[in-house]
Amino acid sequence: MGSSSSSSSWSSSSSFTSWIMLGLLVLTLASFAPLAAEARAFFVFGDSLVDNGNNNYLATTARADSPPYGIDFPTRLPTGRFSNGLNIPDLISEAIGTESPMPYLSPFLKGEKLLAGANFASAGIGILNDTGIQFVNIIRMYKQLEYFQQYQQRVTGLIGAEQTQRLVNEALVLMTVGGNDFVNNYYLVPFSARSRQFSLPDYVVYVISEYRKLLVRVYELGARRVLVTGTGPLGCVPSEIAQRGINGQCSVELQRAAGLFNPQLVQMITELNREIGSDVFVAANAYQMNMDFINNPQAFGFVTSKVACCGQGPYNGIGLCTVISNLCPNRDIYAFWDAFHPSERANRIIVQQMLRGTTKYMHPMNLSTIMLLDSRT
Ligand SMILES: *[C@@H]1O[C@H](CO)[C@@H](O)[C@H](O)[C@H]1NC(C)=O
Ligand SMILES: *[C@@H]1O[C@H](CO)[C@@H](O)[C@H](O)[C@H]1NC(C)=O
Repeated sequence: MGSSSSSSSWSSSSSFTSWIMLGLLVLTLASFAPLAAEARAFFVFGDSLVDNGNNNYLATTARADSPPYGIDFPTRLPTGRFSNGLNIPDLISEAIGTESPMPYLSPFLKGEKLLAGANFASAGIGILNDTGIQFVNIIRMYKQLEYFQQYQQRVTGLIGAEQTQRLVNEALVLMTVGGNDFVNNYYLVPFSARSRQFSLPDYVVYVISEYRKLLVRVYELGARRVLVTGTGPLGCVPSEIAQRGINGQCSVELQRAAGLFNPQLVQMITELNREIGSDVFVAANAYQMNMDFINNPQAFGFVTSKVACCGQGPYNGIGLCTVISNLCPNRDIYAFWDAFHPSERANRIIVQQMLRGTTKYMHPMNLSTIMLLDSRT
């Protein structure tokens, strides 16, 4: 009798559990199915400002997969992001309500996960193939675009060619590249090969002409909404202030490079859109977005924009950020996390301007306008 009563109570509790599980399943389907159907894929190309872990899978010195990188990430672990926490693609994903796409080289990026997009970025790369040669194994832009093509073949195997094309056409794309063509190429060493070959203004014209080819290629591969960031204020990062700045001022030469590059990028994008007959490319003025808090850090709640949170030497701007570096206790009050990369809080300010900024920041329109326009078409 004891055994029969215990068996009946087991069976009723088991059916109760099944009902709960069924209820959960229905709830899950109800809440996620429409989202999954509408979610917009997100593709990311570029350098360390947007790499979220591809270089972890490569034999390269350009990596951010050990502490204290990731100290403020939800898991508190390093991921390969060059940030104390979230980076710009993460925050764009957050803003548009999608999951952050995984690094393309991750073995976990397969099946359904592919439909959210992919991040192809690789720290150290530039527009030119010879940028970042000192990092040896990195995914150069032409290779990132080859992977994008390979990605589309893989997704075609899942959902067919027509749906894949639609997914890519309707996706949001972010392209962040160019800073390394100056920092890790033209100005890497005195009398670099490129600086002997070109004057700075001629070099900028050449780099822009190569950038144009990459943008045309990403369009040919199906992208129809591409955020293109210009370079930040290259001379004002702690590394350059420490190495080239006089009395803590921004490096004049690198600021001159950014000053030549960014307006020509906007002009090139404007012409490209005119040729295509549609606002496919949107220029994000990363220079201005950064200069706002560099010029007036206190107004944005930063104690400094010159000293990196993690690093050593003057301005914590020398060498890499590692476990033995100086580390600030509160990352939110530093504009720069390491010698080159903004902190998560600075990234949030940048993404807010991408989302809502005027045409001074986003040309011809901001991300909220893009979201509104694309939801209607
Ligand atoms: C970069 O290298 C790839 C592969 O070798 C080549 O197809 C491409 O034209 C090169 N780009 C430039 C700008 O030299
Ligand atoms: C940017 O976004 C805001 C809404 O968030 C909007 O009011 C504003 O007009 C937009 N500006 C441009 C130039 O698109």
